[in-house]
Amino acid sequence: MEMIQNETNEGVLTVGGAEVPALAREFGTPLFIMDRGLIEENMRAYKSAIDEAYDGRGLVLYASKAFSAKEIYRIANKEGLGVDVVSGGELYTALSAGFPAENICMHGNNKSIEEILFAIENGVGRIVADGEEELEILDKLFEGREKLPRVLVRIRPGIEAHTHDFIQTGQEDSKFGVSLSDGEALRVLCKPYKNYKITGVHCHIGSQIFEDKPFMTAADLMVKLLSDVYKESGHLLEEVNLGGGFGIRYTDKDTPRPYHDAMLATIAAVKKAAERYGIPYPFLLVEPGRSIVGEAGVTVYTVGAIKDIPDIRKYVSVDGGMGDNPRYILYGAEYDAVLPEKTKAPREEVVTICGRCCESGDILIKDICMPKVQRGDLLAVLSTGAYNYSMSSNYNRLPRPAVVMVKDGEAKLCVRRESYEDIIRNDI
Ligand code: LLP
Repeated sequence: MEMIQNETNEGVLTVGGAEVPALAREFGTPLFIMDRGLIEENMRAYKSAIDEAYDGRGLVLYASKAFSAKEIYRIANKEGLGVDVVSGGELYTALSAGFPAENICMHGNNKSIEEILFAIENGVGRIVADGEEELEILDKLFEGREKLPRVLVRIRPGIEAHTHDFIQTGQEDSKFGVSLSDGEALRVLCKPYKNYKITGVHCHIGSQIFEDKPFMTAADLMVKLLSDVYKESGHLLEEVNLGGGFGIRYTDKDTPRPYHDAMLATIAAVKKAAERYGIPYPFLLVEPGRSIVGEAGVTVYTVGAIKDIPDIRKYVSVDGGMGDNPRYILYGAEYDAVLPEKTKAPREEVVTICGRCCESGDILIKDICMPKVQRGDLLAVLSTGAYNYSMSSNYNRLPRPAVVMVKDGEAKLCVRRESYEDIIRNDI
């Protein structure tokens, strides 16, 4: 198996130029290690495509649900990206990190009034309204205010991209957005509001998608919608937000395209559609999450109990599990793993890597061929940078791991490991 991260000649796994075993000694396990240089590179891959092929008429919004902690907002800001937030909590984290509010885009299918007010009062640049009811609410909340966010409307484009059911969000049977196919979108977008004008449309067709085609189709549909709205109401919407969804490599079954190229294909589709439907090129927004941080992360565990059930299965338990990575139990997600101290050891036995929670489904990787492992070995699961830490829990009262970012061999702690005291903090 080809490795995503690097290794030394002695067979030691490195991330961002630092040796993983040394980081595990310094910060303990389980530990999230993130390659800061790769995150920056991924951010640039998207941004440079917009700069080169679209004269910079766009903004890449990092979808911070993939991994949200103050440091990632600082990196996104330094790289000239905006961010997508979906809750008051993500917004608060971004603002606490000094992220410029005008480059924040606020999402959510059920934002509370308090969250909307929090966003408006802090000068958030964009709000994506999920439906007509929210557009009405915004109209009331905007009354008498001077500085208003731009308002985009989330559209359900009816595209079924090839991905897991739960992470597919653009299809008709979905809690998100307003329907394109039955004319609801056109009607909603043409309706005038007293205190503001809608500025654009948004769609998100799903996640972990490898083909360019669904994005190109979405681009075409959204640009056509702008043209239909213009014809119908004379109001020209200026912005198209195509969401996120670019796939990453978890195992060698996954074959992502370079994000820069995928972005160029999307831009070409936007331009072509604008020319075809006779409207100016819209301002373009995209919201990659997984593809920015996913491959940049590894989780390092220490191996504990090993149980070999003859003719059935060999379980290798690690000191984390579904608390820090619920993606196997939620989606049957597949991962690859290596032994950070023995990357060159031959893979010779099939084992199941499981966690330490009181739950049979607490598995990280089922039936993976690994080198011989022993209690005390380090074990690293690869490509865990997205939707792992951000979906982690304290199930069984396990403290969440620390997160370190590494670049040029320098490690920086960016989220502290939780203590038992943290676990009982809110208990009365
Ligand atoms: N924008 C919107 C409106 C979204 O709903 C999402 C993801 C994104 C952007 C970012 O998509 P990405 O580039 O990361 O694919 N927890 C699941 C993923 C859920 C994604 C939900 N929305 C998982 O672990 O696979």
